[in-house]
Amino acid sequence: MATISSKIAIIGAGISGIAAAKQLAKYEPVVFEATDSIGGVWKHASFRSTKLQTPRCDYEFSDFPWPNRDDSSFPSYAEIIDYLDSYTTHFDVLKFVKFRSKVVELRYIGDGDHREGQGEYGRLLTGRPAWEVAVQTNDDFDSIERYTFEFVVVCIGKYGDVAKVPSFPAKKGPEVFKGKVLHTLDYCKLNKEEASSLVKGKRVAVVGYKKSAIDLAVECAQANQGMDGKACTMVIRTLHWTVPHYSVWGLPFYLFYSTRSSQFIHERPHQNTLRALTCLFLSPMRGVVSKIIESYLLWKLPYEKYGLKPEHPFVEDYASCQMAILPENFFTEADEGRIKFKKASKWWFYENGLQFDDNSKLEADVVICATGYDGKKKLESILPQPFTSFLDYNGVMPLYKSTINPMIPNMAFIGYIESVSNLQTAELRCKWLARLVDDRFKLPSVENMLGHVEREVEVMKRTTRFYKRQCISTYIINHNDELCEEMGWNSWRKKSWFSEAFSPYTSQDYDDDNNNDN
Ligand SMILES: Cc1cc2nc3c(=O)[nH]c(=O)nc-3n(C[C@H](O)[C@H](O)[C@H](O)COP(=O)(O)OP(=O)(O)OC[C@H]3O[C@@H](n4cnc5c(N)ncnc54)[C@H](O)[C@@H]3O)c2cc1C
Ligand SMILES: NC(=O)c1ccc[n+]([C@@H]2O[C@H](COP(=O)([O-])OP(=O)(O)OC[C@H]3O[C@@H](n4cnc5c(N)ncnc54)[C@H](OP(=O)(O)O)[C@@H]3O)[C@@H](O)[C@H]2O)c1
Repeated sequence: MATISSKIAIIGAGISGIAAAKQLAKYEPVVFEATDSIGGVWKHASFRSTKLQTPRCDYEFSDFPWPNRDDSSFPSYAEIIDYLDSYTTHFDVLKFVKFRSKVVELRYIGDGDHREGQGEYGRLLTGRPAWEVAVQTNDDFDSIERYTFEFVVVCIGKYGDVAKVPSFPAKKGPEVFKGKVLHTLDYCKLNKEEASSLVKGKRVAVVGYKKSAIDLAVECAQANQGMDGKACTMVIRTLHWTVPHYSVWGLPFYLFYSTRSSQFIHERPHQNTLRALTCLFLSPMRGVVSKIIESYLLWKLPYEKYGLKPEHPFVEDYASCQMAILPENFFTEADEGRIKFKKASKWWFYENGLQFDDNSKLEADVVICATGYDGKKKLESILPQPFTSFLDYNGVMPLYKSTINPMIPNMAFIGYIESVSNLQTAELRCKWLARLVDDRFKLPSVENMLGHVEREVEVMKRTTRFYKRQCISTYIINHNDELCEEMGWNSWRKKSWFSEAFSPYTSQDYDDDNNNDN
């Protein structure tokens, strides 16, 4: 067994793992990263056209502004990696990272016995090892190194690495299809020439209608310019609202959902009775805001022309963190006939392409599943029983303050809660976690934490029918307030009442320098 080199292990060096390493730096954590680079999805699950879809100034570490933070363009994946490289260099975080070190197994060796759902969760650092971490180094597949740690922070990401692939009844799966089938994760690995020759002159079916599918359809269309180009067809199970940019009827988008006043009308967990009544009274306002945005999108984009108008309100897509930003030329390519749409709730393969539940068929040479990722499977591959059975509660992982699974001792999870900026969400939770590790405040009992999570899940479920992800986008300011209060920070972080009410909250509002706790 390798010697204990640190109290804390962090698994993964994407945005979340890097943020955790920076905030826990004084404990000299060991960061295990499976690949040879930092950046996670930005390095390994991006297409050539992938750009940030969050405004740049929102996807920013609180103490490390983008050099061109007022530039309204969306940075490419390569710019994000550069930004992350500069961040890790500036704060000397790379020294903690062990590259090509894949955690293949976690074994609980502590003595916590709170799993019956009662009692105290206990301190995160106890002076005794709680987890044995088995690590495979890419250089030598035969050798597994074992380490022990008091506390483990899991930052392996929800996306990337493990593809979510549809399953089919016998004789209706990809085995009967004469063409090629792949997932976006395979497509990401192709270089420019390989990607272009895969789709150029081919009848491509892209399954899915979210961000990966939309970007992919545009890449296919661009590779198929000219006389011998072929159309790419998007196979759509559920229609969603997509937006062209962050402004609506000339107003900045943040005014609708990202200020304290705009979030006031939305239900949030743990509100008192008076607030619940106010919220009920204001509920028509939520519909009005949603309608304003829908009216703009219907005016701006040819939803009706292509039969793409969703039946549900915009707010439900926003509240489930599913809003996709459209690439500029998406509908131009559709107008040119290079992107087509096929709505179908069920589909399967036949030898020449896809077949649908309305008995129609689509001939295809290549089928690319942009069907998303399986983050739970990734976790299950390293966590032992019985802990894997605590990963799902009504479809999402129960995480107290989006960080601690009350049923899993001496372990934290970063990167599992979503908002408009997953970087901002992850970083603030890492700050909260660092103070918890320092013992500056205590966790409630396991039972109370479970109750807390249950109430959050209930609110999320009420806000959107697409509840699948732990998404706090309509009440993130309030969620962050709770963390600030626990950390002993002022939760109202603006300089004036006016900006408190009407300006958006960004990472910079949560910079440690604005507090007197260090
Ligand atoms: C293409 C794409 C674009 C996105 N765009 C946006 C956006 O515009 N705005 C936004 O807010 N969010 C976006 N997201 C969500 C994105 O996932 C987060 O913003 C953020 O980058 C996630 O970082 P992470 O560190 O939590 O996970 P990841 O980036 O997935 O990093 C996880 C890291 O853990 C490593 N790892 C995994 N398993 C192991 C193991 N067993 N042992 C050791 N290491 C392991 C992986 O190699 C990886 O480096 C996007 C996601 C994708 C896929
Ligand atoms: N910044 C960027 O440019 C960018 C680019 C790519 C991805 N991302 C992010 O990465 C994450 C993953 O995005 P993603 O688009 O890869 O995956 P996703 O959001 O999970 O979307 C999966 C899509 O596939 C569809 N689908 C899944 N199974 C299906 C089936 N069996 N039959 C038909 N359709 C099926 C889903 O339809 P339903 O809606 O019916 O479930 C959905 O349209 C998201 O957070 C996204 O925002 C960001």
